[in-house]
Amino acid sequence: MSLKPKTAKETLAVSTVIVLPNDTNTIGNMMGGRLLHHLDIIAAISAHRLCRRVVVTAAVNNVAFNYPIKLADIVTLEAKVSRSFSTSMEVCIDVYVENHSTGKKTKCNEAIYTFVAVDQLGSPIGVPELIPESEEELERYNAALRRKQLSLILAGKMKPHDATELKKLFE
Ligand SMILES: CC(C)(COP(=O)(O)OP(=O)(O)OC[C@H]1O[C@@H](n2cnc3c(N)ncnc32)[C@H](O)[C@@H]1OP(=O)(O)O)[C@@H](O)C(=O)NCCC(=O)NCCS
Repeated sequence: MSLKPKTAKETLAVSTVIVLPNDTNTIGNMMGGRLLHHLDIIAAISAHRLCRRVVVTAAVNNVAFNYPIKLADIVTLEAKVSRSFSTSMEVCIDVYVENHSTGKKTKCNEAIYTFVAVDQLGSPIGVPELIPESEEELERYNAALRRKQLSLILAGKMKPHDATELKKLFE
């Protein structure tokens, strides 16, 4: 597969779902686990659009359930790769709920996942560089290394001492 750099826009993946009774808890809110499932799938498609390889979820870095999503809500998930490294990619997903009368979309949740591209044996394999263009894409790109280091520390895969980008926050 080509390792030609791609823009963040080229990795955009969008899906829209409606919340049905089986998706909700006893007070009529969409269950967190159900949303995580949709997030994982749309983020994986976005990561795949960057590298055109099989991708696996390496980490769920952050999910903020800021507002409840209710039964019958129309929910749109928009995922874009925010930065790629050697074999891993960070994907940011924004979640919107659509007003039934006006069609206006309000952002209710956001999430950040890490995917790794793998070969047929499940070994990590190189991915193309990601080019951020908009102000928001640049902001997310610039903060991604810090988040990667934090995620690796929490997973016990990096020593805090080696987290150069994180340490800069406290200098
Ligand atoms: C993800 C996986 C392929 C990583 O394999 P590994 O042997 O740890 O490979 P590495 O240590 O070389 O890591 C590969 C990349 O992932 C990154 N990575 C690994 N764990 C990470 C974490 N918790 N957070 C952020 N990045 C992580 C590494 O930094 C590296 O990135 P880079 O090459 O871009 O610098 C492997 O752990 C795996 O197959 N996990 C299961 C995946 C899966 O089944 N997901 C579904 C969940 S049920």
